[in-house]
Amino acid sequence: MASQYIDDATWRYFWHPVCTLSELRAAAADGGHPLAVTLLGESLAVAEIGGTVSAFPDRCLHRSTRLSVGRVEEGGLRCAYHGWLYGADGACREIPSMPDRPIPDDCRLRSLGAEVAYDLVWVRLEAGADTVIPGCPAWDDGAFRCVQGEPYTWPTSAGRRLENFVDLSHFPFVHDGSLGDRRHTTVPIASIDQLEGELRFQFAPSPDMNLPDVALMAPTDYRIWLPFSVNLEFFFPDGERSQLWMTASPVESGICRSFWFTCRTADRDGDDQPHLDFQDLVLSEDLPVIRAQEPPEIPAPADEYSVLVDKVSTTYRRRLRELSEAAREGPDALSRSLAAVRLESDRPGKGSAAV
Ligand code: FES
Ligand SMILES: [Fe+2]
Repeated sequence: MASQYIDDATWRYFWHPVCTLSELRAAAADGGHPLAVTLLGESLAVAEIGGTVSAFPDRCLHRSTRLSVGRVEEGGLRCAYHGWLYGADGACREIPSMPDRPIPDDCRLRSLGAEVAYDLVWVRLEAGADTVIPGCPAWDDGAFRCVQGEPYTWPTSAGRRLENFVDLSHFPFVHDGSLGDRRHTTVPIASIDQLEGELRFQFAPSPDMNLPDVALMAPTDYRIWLPFSVNLEFFFPDGERSQLWMTASPVESGICRSFWFTCRTADRDGDDQPHLDFQDLVLSEDLPVIRAQEPPEIPAPADEYSVLVDKVSTTYRRRLRELSEAAREGPDALSRSLAAVRLESDRPGKGSAAV
């Protein structure tokens, strides 16, 4: 059940990844079909038409057959049932059963925002608010090698997924021996800066933990692009850096799909597999506790007991709630809420250029 505390309709105004570019092209290569995806409970058909990636509601205007069972042609997306052809802008271009009659102007699929960034297809269901595709700082930085991990679908909300990713006190319990050490359970209280749609804070783990070399554990800059994207930049003692980027796409109530990259400055020509394998280990440690959270949506504050070290989580929840309240007023109020700045530290985002 969707949370009343945070209205999921808010996220229709934001950009979310719905597939990788390679998934889209694999669907096209395998029978010429668009790719069927779900975003915020809405079924969509994604197609690359004449070099433009477009996303449409997955329903033909004529007799409601799913467009995702149709075919992508040079000039558009052709419905499988009676062959109506839709262009990349959603306008119906051809009705084969009456080729000599004009096509009404309103015979047009609802236009959804679709863009490609970081080899991912991003979709925005509702325009009108000042929302942008979240940054991925390492992607365009030649100092880094970025490797795309296999996207994964979890039975939780995108908010819970993001919160798990930035949770500082679970390491010694969920990740004892990989990211944490059961002998080091306390965590510092972060100063959190709120900057135009972002939250930023820093974390310095205890230096005397005994962890594997491939573990990403070092002084870290955290950046959260509201609502569901995050980048961690790790600063190692030898001057090398790594970044771990993730965005949780809200598929439907209680289900999200995470897209992610692991990026490093060290050993750029080396084997990627140990880095991917380590993340797989971390994810396999997180999943059982995330799956066991009930409800999968972030509930109202009174329904869970928060303490001081949960400051990242409580701040994140407060921002989601503020955005949700603003969106109920309309896209202008949402834009104003996103633009708000509130600084706690004197040095926001150490080492992080604005993106
Ligand atoms: S249902 Fe799509 S063309 Fe008729
Ligand atoms: Fe974790």
